[in-house]
Amino acid sequence: MNHFESRRGALWCEGVPLSRIAQAVGTPAYVYSSATLERHYAVLSQAFHGIDHHLCYSVKACSTLAVLKLFARQGAWFDIVSGGELERVSRAGADPARVVFAGVGKTRDEMALALRRGIALFNVESAEELQALDEVARRLKRKAPFALRVNPEVDARTHRYIATGLKTSKFGVPLKEARSLYAHSRTLRGLTAVGIDSHIGSQLTDERPMREAVTAVAAMYRDLRAAGFPLRYLDVGGGLGITYRAERPPSVERYAQVVSAPLRGLGATLLVEPGRMLVGNAAVLLTRVLYRKRTPAKRFVVVDAAMNDLMRPALYEAYHGIEAVAPRAGARQKVDVAGPVCESADVLGKDRLLPPLEQGDLVVVRTAGAYAMSMASNYNSRPRAPEVLVRGSKFRVVRQRETVNDLMRGETT
Ligand code: LLP
Repeated sequence: MNHFESRRGALWCEGVPLSRIAQAVGTPAYVYSSATLERHYAVLSQAFHGIDHHLCYSVKACSTLAVLKLFARQGAWFDIVSGGELERVSRAGADPARVVFAGVGKTRDEMALALRRGIALFNVESAEELQALDEVARRLKRKAPFALRVNPEVDARTHRYIATGLKTSKFGVPLKEARSLYAHSRTLRGLTAVGIDSHIGSQLTDERPMREAVTAVAAMYRDLRAAGFPLRYLDVGGGLGITYRAERPPSVERYAQVVSAPLRGLGATLLVEPGRMLVGNAAVLLTRVLYRKRTPAKRFVVVDAAMNDLMRPALYEAYHGIEAVAPRAGARQKVDVAGPVCESADVLGKDRLLPPLEQGDLVVVRTAGAYAMSMASNYNSRPRAPEVLVRGSKFRVVRQRETVNDLMRGETT
């Protein structure tokens, strides 16, 4: 469910026609619906009603301050992977005591920052990282609360770039090694084991691997508690898939059942780290047609948004819906919608049946809330697009368009 709907032949976001936003801020631009963001959070939160849990919004999906603030107001916790994300969350007004910190390569500086701010826990991914965290904590005369991220070695059946629970994956520690690491951690005075964590991948549509992973982790939680570790949190990561095209992920209610059932009787606080599911279809990338061109093999529509604004099609061959904002009458044509970047991979949509498009027409690329702006780059020296947040019949620019001067800041000749 989202709040981008057609009214009188044109696409609106909540109570605002997209054409008005394009006129005001130019294109390309990302447009977010606050009603959609809030609805997704409420629906997910409702699905976990009655279960001791926290929703830790996965900041990497969309780290825009206004979006973080919106979730902080709903009571969210946050899942971060860098000192930069910690600064963002703090600046958005969130309490660092509601932050969990994951990632295979946390630096000692990042650990120290997070310890001083008093985050809830570190999700530790290797023996050497555990050692480093202990050293940093002792130097600061603190105890670092940690969970080990374990790799339950299940195939999440998703794109190979976003599966993280395979035997060959760089993430987490194997279950067996985790046992000895927890035991070893008892000798490290800078650490307190407070939980166990796993995350098997993203854009998951199959509930079986989710269940397998949580079951394995819950069994280990029980054993560790029995061995006297004062664990409290069981973190199941994020990963619930969404519909870009025809995918049929489990409903949020089903998802909540699947990940919480193995916890029955454990007395654990469940941590869930949703990213894509909260923000994915809460935004579109609004772009304008620059040119049409025809080759003997294909018809192209060249738009002013590109792979630097939405990397997913180029990186994962991901599908994103594409629509004309005000469709013209006439026969639909099969076109490739391409950006201006000098790479053959810079095609936002291949072989799309679209109504006739002319220079200057507005087009949206759907489902551009997750891993869109947060993965944007300046490739080809293209300033990053602005972000607009709509609420009812009002909208505001929550991140300005970058300028070419911004791009050269810090450079010398
Ligand atoms: N927790 C951890 C430890 C993660 O690594 C991730 C995502 C999440 C939570 C959030 O997962 P989500 O609920 O959003 O699926 N750039 C890729 C996705 C990379 C996901 C990385 N980790 C894409 O555009 O599909």
